[in-house]
Amino acid sequence: MEQSLIILKPDAVQRGLIGAILSRLEMRGLKFCGLKMIQIDESLARRHYAAHEGKPFFPGLLQYITASPVVVVAVQGKDVIQTIRHTVGATKPIDAAPGTIRGDFGLEVGRNLIHASDSPESGQHEVSLFFQPHELLLWERSADPWIYE
Ligand code: RTP
Ligand code: MG
Repeated sequence: MEQSLIILKPDAVQRGLIGAILSRLEMRGLKFCGLKMIQIDESLARRHYAAHEGKPFFPGLLQYITASPVVVVAVQGKDVIQTIRHTVGATKPIDAAPGTIRGDFGLEVGRNLIHASDSPESGQHEVSLFFQPHELLLWERSADPWIYE
């Protein structure tokens, strides 16, 4: 079973898009197993985006992700990494297909609204970075047999 970490970035929260974005993921059939609002500090931002350290956009990325509260969501289920990446759309909103979250709500790469883990390994790592074990609820959902064959 894969895990993915979603972050509704500061622009999504400031623009009042928490509900609109989460509802798309929930309506798709994804099951949330952890959800909270936090303010990311510089140390956590550096750990989360460690793979991008040294790139020209890294300082701006740190400033962006720490600028105001975010909503973090842990998702668990079959193929959630690819499913969520496709629902989120391309990194640059200008390249993101209409119907994706970034394609419908965003314009610029530095304000692309949402993070989603890019591999099963990063999903496990990122969920453990943002959630304590006791914050993750592995619950039975009555709709599961109507979503998963
Ligand atoms: P994310 O990690 O946030 O889900 O985004 P991603 O996988 O689609 O893209 P990634 O390459 O991991 O980049 C992380 C975030 O850095 C910002 N970025 N800015 N100015 C630029 O050229 C640039 N490139 C990337 C974006 O906020 C991107 O989501
Ligand atoms: Mg990424």
